Amino acid sequence: MDTQLTGKKIILGVSAGIAAYKACTLCRLLVKAGADVYVVMTKDALNFVGKATFEALSGHKVSVEIFEDQKDISHISLSTGADLMMIAPATANTIAKITAGMADNMLTAVTLAVTCPVVVAPAMNSNMYQNIATQENIATLKRRGIYVITPADGPLACGISGPGRMKEPEELFSDIVSILSNRIGYTREQSDLLPPPVKPLELTRTRLLPKAYGAGLKVLITAGPTEEPIDPVRFISNCSSGKMGYALAEAALAYGAEVILVSGPVTLTCSKDITLIKVKSASQMLQAVEDYVKEVDIVIGCAAVADYRVENYSPVKIKKEEGNDTITLKLVKNPDILATVGLLENNRPFTVGFAAETNNTEENAKSKLVRKNLDLIVLNDVSKKDIGFNSDDNEVTIFDKDGKIAHLEKQPKHVIAQSVMELIFKYQKNTK
Ligand code: PMT
Repeated sequence: MDTQLTGKKIILGVSAGIAAYKACTLCRLLVKAGADVYVVMTKDALNFVGKATFEALSGHKVSVEIFEDQKDISHISLSTGADLMMIAPATANTIAKITAGMADNMLTAVTLAVTCPVVVAPAMNSNMYQNIATQENIATLKRRGIYVITPADGPLACGISGPGRMKEPEELFSDIVSILSNRIGYTREQSDLLPPPVKPLELTRTRLLPKAYGAGLKVLITAGPTEEPIDPVRFISNCSSGKMGYALAEAALAYGAEVILVSGPVTLTCSKDITLIKVKSASQMLQAVEDYVKEVDIVIGCAAVADYRVENYSPVKIKKEEGNDTITLKLVKNPDILATVGLLENNRPFTVGFAAETNNTEENAKSKLVRKNLDLIVLNDVSKKDIGFNSDDNEVTIFDKDGKIAHLEKQPKHVIAQSVMELIFKYQKNTK
């Protein structure tokens, strides 16, 4: 029977804390949900739970040392193809090691080698948890995009009560499901769980994204505004900066896809491995999209295309006329580029739109999804000044034809772009 985690390879790292017993329940829940669970323990963790327990629960050998006599299991083979790694319990010592990038045991080596999301569930004495060293380490991990689950307040094994108690296995299980289905952000309030903002480019450059997601796929992305000329020196446009579309293009490239970026006039640059096609007007953008649409697998419309253009372009500069305080521009509708793609009858690529809305946001986004025959639509509420147009951050909700599938809290656009691209690749794969 297929369940929510069927086929997911999950690595469960267990370090030396009394909460290791809770990891047994977590392992059982994951296996029951269809996941293929590999347990990696530190040597000291064996003082709390034996290998045999996890081997029976997971159905796989448990790894402890890098140079064990299991020739077929290395930290690299374990990490390869993993969908998620959770370290639960994560002691102060293990947290410090992974912050330092150490690889002195199987658990830390695998943590360093995986390219999937890593989730850390700290469990320790309150003083150790609140120590500035641990807090700084946790802050560093979050900054790097590692999910850290804030421990609960409560009675601890050391006899005192305070923060440091590992979250219950059922809660950790639901966090894993949320992360793997990109539902973090609306399933419950998890400001602690979401990786905090990182500076633009930092994450894209340092975090290794699984190339397998986009490998062999060709993605076309539209970005930026369009300019609709009135006369040789004037035009109608909007304040799209192109940041969201360019971030999507970089993320798609990092995931291993071939990327064509059709960009309206912006001041941004992109990686040389991206095919950049610069356009100005909506009709030029449509032409560029039509030139490539037959050869791409995915089209993402992130451009803020002007809905109208001036009907009669004046080839000479329009002059002020004496006694005329107003002039009238007649505007005609521009072609809908994305609808042209979405409504293709043959060779239609997987089609994703963005909806820039200020009111009735969900309703409007859903109706655009249907009208333009899109597979997914990414809604951003552009009435909010700190996200959307020309800001470094965005907050989006994604819908498919059946309703809401993900909400991504406010984060830098390049982080949002990585999550959106991951979701698009996964959905596109399922529709084939
Ligand atoms: O560029 P930034 O400053 O980073 O800002 C990002 C953004 C706010 C522009 C981006 O996140 C966004 O929301 N882009 C879509 C803007 C928009 O025009 O939305 P819309 O709701 O009007 O259009 C819906 C969809 O149809 C969009 O995918 C749009 O690209 C597409 N469209 C619209 C009109 C048209 N004539 N042709 C189209 O292809």
